[in-house]
Amino acid sequence: MNISVIGCGYVGTTTALMFCELGYQVVAVEKDSKKLAMLQQGKLPFHEPGIDSLLIKHLHRGSLVFTGDIEEGIAHSKIIYITVGTPSLPDGSSDLSFIEEVSRQIGAAQNDYKAVVIKSTVPLGTVDKVREWIGKAQKRPLPVDLVVNPEFLREGSALYDTMHPDRIVIGSDNPEAAETVKQLFHSMSCPIIVTDCNTAQLIKYTANAFLATKISFINEIGRVCDAYGANIEEVASGVGLDHRIGPHFLRAGIGWGGSCFPKDIAALINMGNNNGINLLIVQSAQQVNQDQIGYFIDRLEGELHGLNNKTVSIYGISFKPETDDIRESPALKVIAEVQRRGGTVAAYDPMVFDKHPELKLPGVRVARNMEDAWKGSDCFFLITEWDQFSKIDWGQVMQEMRTPLVLDGRNVLDARKLRSLGFRYYGIGRKT
Ligand code: UGA
Repeated sequence: MNISVIGCGYVGTTTALMFCELGYQVVAVEKDSKKLAMLQQGKLPFHEPGIDSLLIKHLHRGSLVFTGDIEEGIAHSKIIYITVGTPSLPDGSSDLSFIEEVSRQIGAAQNDYKAVVIKSTVPLGTVDKVREWIGKAQKRPLPVDLVVNPEFLREGSALYDTMHPDRIVIGSDNPEAAETVKQLFHSMSCPIIVTDCNTAQLIKYTANAFLATKISFINEIGRVCDAYGANIEEVASGVGLDHRIGPHFLRAGIGWGGSCFPKDIAALINMGNNNGINLLIVQSAQQVNQDQIGYFIDRLEGELHGLNNKTVSIYGISFKPETDDIRESPALKVIAEVQRRGGTVAAYDPMVFDKHPELKLPGVRVARNMEDAWKGSDCFFLITEWDQFSKIDWGQVMQEMRTPLVLDGRNVLDARKLRSLGFRYYGIGRKT
């Protein structure tokens, strides 16, 4: 069986490799010539643990071929996966221009039956538009089925999540097409849900909105912990033991970012608004997340008696560890807010500045190493919990900072140890 995958970002590349692992012959299409050249040479244009060795393995075997020629991609298979981006527009709606472009290209290149599978996260109702775009571009009427197969992988553990999914969701208005796609996963042991397109898409949005809401909820409770001297970690593990709640996504911190939660929540709110539905809980989750940055920076400002002439060292720029992805990263919002309130910023990240030499952060001193960022600083502000931050020599930090203040945006540092060394330490909801 042949499969084509169009769009080689995180999701597309991981999907292509997953299908290779399942024994299929995959052609993956990438229009960005720089990214394409890298992939063809077995190099990943992004950082994702474990993917690079699989990439090399399947390129060598010939089970995976990358091409810039979309016609070649479409001719190769009856099953075509669309895995292009659907970024947010300013009003929160999804920019479907990449989906439209690919749909039209599929229609124009089509010369026989195709099952087009949308893996990108798209608003409900998009399937009808895709069908129309493909139909209009066809040179003559040809059969096409549309299937939705949403993605649930997390960046940083993309490979594991894809190979060990909790469930696979397949939506189609044609049971036969759904069955064809379902069969692709016959060797996987997880539950497979087959439903209609809108339901499949809503499972994806609801999952992301629910997870983000869980985080915002625990972050709000973290503020109550701060007010009363209670301990958020014990609260989270205490409630997480209730199997109806579960222990996951209850880590309090500076808030959620990334290419998915912010975009999908905005899109869900937008879908509600378009139908006169005020999604109050989802809107609140979004609001709490936005306020969380201010909550931390109010603390910072209070501790330093204003940020004028103060230097804040930001540790971690990516939105989570083990990725170079900075989309909607809390760190960028923190930097902007510190600067807006008059502070100066030094920043360190073990990966982002190397992978993104083009990244410009006006007014920010980019540190070459961890030590360089804290020298002379008034606050060590951890935003992303990279593993190497757990191995810092705090005795050295104490000697080299100007003010011994540590803000822990992820509640990962050893509060007791830092306080015993003389630091003023604050996470969220961690007993003082
Ligand atoms: C998220 C979902 O977890 C995936 O299931 C989904 O497939 C993906 O979006 C997507 O839609 O493509 P991802 O954004 O890669 O995955 O990363 P997460 O691990 O979910 O983290 C998202 C944000 O939440 C990060 O900023 C992280 O630091 C934060 N987070 C996560 C917390 O603040 N607390 C937690 O307990 C968990």
